[in-house]
Amino acid sequence: MTRRAVVRGVGHYLPEKVIENSHFESTLETTDEWIRARTGIERRHFAAEGETTSDLATHAANAALAHAGLTAEDIDAIVVATSTADLTFPSAATMVQAKLGMTRGFAFDVQAVCAGFVYALSNANALIVSGQADRVLVIGAETFSRIMDWTDRTTCVLFGDGAGAVLLEAQDGAGTSADRGILATDLNSDGRFKDLLYVDGGVSTQTTGVLRMEGNQVFRHAVAKLAATAETALDKAGLTASDVDWIVPHQANIRIIQGTAKKMGLPMEKVVVTVQDHGNTSAASIPLAMSVGVANGQIKPGDLIVTEAIGGGLAWGAVVLRW
Ligand code: UT7
Repeated sequence: MTRRAVVRGVGHYLPEKVIENSHFESTLETTDEWIRARTGIERRHFAAEGETTSDLATHAANAALAHAGLTAEDIDAIVVATSTADLTFPSAATMVQAKLGMTRGFAFDVQAVCAGFVYALSNANALIVSGQADRVLVIGAETFSRIMDWTDRTTCVLFGDGAGAVLLEAQDGAGTSADRGILATDLNSDGRFKDLLYVDGGVSTQTTGVLRMEGNQVFRHAVAKLAATAETALDKAGLTASDVDWIVPHQANIRIIQGTAKKMGLPMEKVVVTVQDHGNTSAASIPLAMSVGVANGQIKPGDLIVTEAIGGGLAWGAVVLRW
């Protein structure tokens, strides 16, 4: 018997306010046509005034709990992937814990920017496989609208707010790649690339800062690194790209998503795509796409999923799981 972290539930939350590309045409030298053609983004959601990352995360967590038929008291741990926590501390995860009315267990944040959800899944898997927790809520939640430079057309049209959650549960498997649950993970980072994507402020510099990105340079790293990490994770699981039912990629740019699928030799029919409706929601984009993919009938129990992401750091990685 092998202890596996199996998806028991999934859910998401998007703030009410929808911002179409045309919104930016009055304040910036940009067009709906440019944004669609270069990124695939058509619209994104922005959190309301006063609505915080832990609010979004709590909604998504409740949706995942309802989907699993469980309550917060059934959970041992909460891991929130975010770079836009409500406060410097405590963690967004402990705020979610309180908002869910959960009085036991433990909660913490993971910060790996757009790769955050892949890192969080990998950490939650380790907690479950090592026997430290039986059920873990893994949440990706962001309010990137709070760290935009609204005068910078190269960044502010790209990002949105939202949250997604996956409930992982310990189950026994046979120890083969036919098992349900997380089969392999692959994490990477290279801090030499920190200037390609960062926020130019922080606690230690006593500023809040806004997002800065050398977009086309990040783009160049993205396709090669994403295809490589996905293939490494598949290899660790004893599988190949031909075994994959769905790629659930980080949703930053449709051209990166297409390029990665092509490099892996997989058609776009095997890719869950939500970038057109959500924009880039950083650590929230993968669980959002998983939840949408399940809700619209694409992802079914037993399907082999490979999920991959890259972001600030640079940090990147992939997880292979059987749904
Ligand atoms: O999630 C974390 C990881 N992040 C990513 O994966 C993002 C990766 N990068 C990208 O998605 C793309 O590089 C962008 C969407 C950011 C930019 O697309 P691009 O095709 O790489 O464009 P570019 O940066 O090479 O810029 C081409 C032109 C430039 O004008 P000039 O210098 O050729 O005159 C830009 O100033 O497009 C211009 N441009 C715009 N034009 C209209 C940049 N942003 C805009 C805009 N509207 N919003």
